[in-house]
Amino acid sequence: MTALSAPAIAIIIVAAGSGTRLGASEPKAFVELAGRTLLRHALEGVRAAGPMQVIVVAPPGFERLAETELRATASSDDESVTVVVGGATRQESVAAGLRALEADVRVVLVHDAARALTPSAQITAVAAAVTDAGVIPALPVVDTLKRVDGDDITGPVDRSQLAAAQTPQGFPRAALQEAYARALASGEEHTDDAAVFAAAGGAVRRIPGSELAFKITTPADLERARLLLGAGGPASVLPRIGVGTDVHAFGGEGALWLAGLEWPGETPLSGHSDGDAVAHAIVDALLGAAGLGDIGQHFGTAHPQYAGAHAEVFLARTAELLAEAGFAIGNVSVQFQGNRPRFSARRAEAERVLSDALGGAPVTVSATTTDGLGFPGRGEGIAVTAVALIHQL
Ligand code: CTP
Ligand code: MG
Repeated sequence: MTALSAPAIAIIIVAAGSGTRLGASEPKAFVELAGRTLLRHALEGVRAAGPMQVIVVAPPGFERLAETELRATASSDDESVTVVVGGATRQESVAAGLRALEADVRVVLVHDAARALTPSAQITAVAAAVTDAGVIPALPVVDTLKRVDGDDITGPVDRSQLAAAQTPQGFPRAALQEAYARALASGEEHTDDAAVFAAAGGAVRRIPGSELAFKITTPADLERARLLLGAGGPASVLPRIGVGTDVHAFGGEGALWLAGLEWPGETPLSGHSDGDAVAHAIVDALLGAAGLGDIGQHFGTAHPQYAGAHAEVFLARTAELLAEAGFAIGNVSVQFQGNRPRFSARRAEAERVLSDALGGAPVTVSATTTDGLGFPGRGEGIAVTAVALIHQL
C-alpha cells in the first residue's frame, strides 16, 4: 500500500476529559510533565509521525490553550489548526472531532492525549495498516486474570484470548463516520473507537502496541512517565541538535551590530531588529533543537517589542523558552562568512557576551572569508551558520 499523505490522513486527539482519577487541579491534558503539558507531549509524537490534519478536542474553556499547544508544534505559522470542544463522554468528544474533518481525509486516527508518550512510529504504523478494516495497537496481557464476583474468585480467564487496546486507532473515514452516526442514533456508549466500529459491523485488526503508549490515568502513571522522561527515557537518552542560518545585507542605519557587539566605523547590516545575523542564527539553531519553531514565530514583525533589539534580548528570551520547554543548552557553535568586520581581535569578547546572554552556555564564534566568491565575497552581506546542542533538564 502506498503511503497516504496530508490531507489524506487526519488524527483526532481527544483531550476533553477532566482526569478525575488523576485528581489534578486542571484537566488531565493540561497537566505538566517534564515542563510540558500532556497534550504537548502527545502532539509532538503526532507531528513527528508525518503530515496529517490534526484536530484537538478540548474541554470547554480550554480551546485557546489547546490552540497555543497546537500552534507551538505546527510546521509553519500559516498552518490551519483545528480545535473543537468535546462532550461529556469520550465517544461524544470523538464525534465532535469527526465533524471537523477536512474534505480530502480518507483515513482517520483517533488518539488519547492521555497516551502522551506514544512513539511516533506507532502512529505511523497504525495509519499505514488501515484498509477497509480498522486497526488498533494492542499489547498482550501479562497478568494472570481472574473472573471475580466481589471478593470471590469465580473462575479463570484465558489471557491468550485477550489484548490490551491502545491508541491511536485507525479507520477508513466514511465507515467510521457511519459507525458513529449509528452509535449516536442508538444511544449506545462505547469506551473506544474499535468498539463503535465493530458495533456497526466493521472488522478491526491489531498491530503490536508499545509499553510507552500507556495511558496516564493515576498519579502513579504520571510518576512513571516522569521517570521515563527523566531517567533514560526515550526523549532524554540522546541530546538534541539544531541548525540555524541567517543572511543580512549591509546597508542599514546606524552602527553595525554583530555577534552581540557594536562595531563602530563598520557598515551596518539591515534587518527588522539590529540585523545581528549571528544572534539570529543562534536563536534558530536553539529553537530548532528544541522543536519550538523558529525566530519568525517568536520574534518576527508580529512582535514589535523586538524592533531594534540587540542580541542579549533575543538570546535571553530564547534561553527562557527552552527552559520553559524543559531543555538546557549544552553549547553553541557559530560561524559567519564575510569580509568585514575583522573578527579575531574581538572573538573572546563576543563569545562572552553571547554566552552570558544564554545563561552561561559556551558559545564559540568563528569568521571566514569566501575567497571573493558569492555575496559575502563581494562584500554585499554576511551569511551565518549556527549549530546548537541541547538536552533535557
Ligand atoms: N476524553 C475526552 N472527552 C471526555 C472524556 C475523555 O476527550 N468526555 C479523553 C481524555 O481527555 C483522554 C481520553 O479520552 O485523553 C481517555 O480518557 P481517560 O483516560 O478516561 O481520561 P479522563 O476521562 O480525563 O480521566 P478520568 O476517567 O480519570 O476522569
Ligand atoms: Mg474517563
